[in-house]
Amino acid sequence: MIDVAENNMMPLDDFVKWTLNYMNENYYFLGDHSTRVTAVTGAILDKLGINGEDKKLMKYAALLHDIGKLSIPKEILLAPRRLTDKEFELVKDHPVIGYKKLLHIKSLTDVNPIILYHHYRSGFGYPKKIENVPPPDTVLIDVLTVADSYSAIREKRIYNDWNLEHMDAISLLKNEDDPKNKGINQEIVDILSKINMAGM
Ligand SMILES: [Fe+2]
Ligand SMILES: [Fe+2]
Repeated sequence: MIDVAENNMMPLDDFVKWTLNYMNENYYFLGDHSTRVTAVTGAILDKLGINGEDKKLMKYAALLHDIGKLSIPKEILLAPRRLTDKEFELVKDHPVIGYKKLLHIKSLTDVNPIILYHHYRSGFGYPKKIENVPPPDTVLIDVLTVADSYSAIREKRIYNDWNLEHMDAISLLKNEDDPKNKGINQEIVDILSKINMAGM
């Protein structure tokens, strides 16, 4: 388990590197997932003309968005089977867990709410209710949500063999009949569909 208070002694980039390595070594390439989400996020932000401080915030939000998963037991997170409802409820706590862990790190004050909201999907996702933390810029959350979903669909996971191509992943995200897509910003999906993701 990470002791964030202790890691707060490190410069931020060292802390991030350490976290990504730890994720790769112990949580089936969760670090690579985070790096990929960061690249996709950056590509969408470029298309939207968002740069400067917001782009920097989003880099750290994407790199650390799943840090709360490090508190979910491996047998659950890496289970090569469908999770029970109870197990899935536990996994759904990861945005809140991550948010609470990072509260200690002052330089992540503006990044942390984006992490808390990364599965929120305008209330269609989770956590169901967020009190006392006002939502950050909606576009920024939407970009991270789309980049995260897109990357997850394209990645080979322990429980699936998908490894989908760019447009296959876009089609899945555009499927209005899939309840998982409720609250997904389709304008951002359209922007992503036009980005050349060769090599991603
Ligand atoms: Fe997540
Ligand atoms: Fe993720």
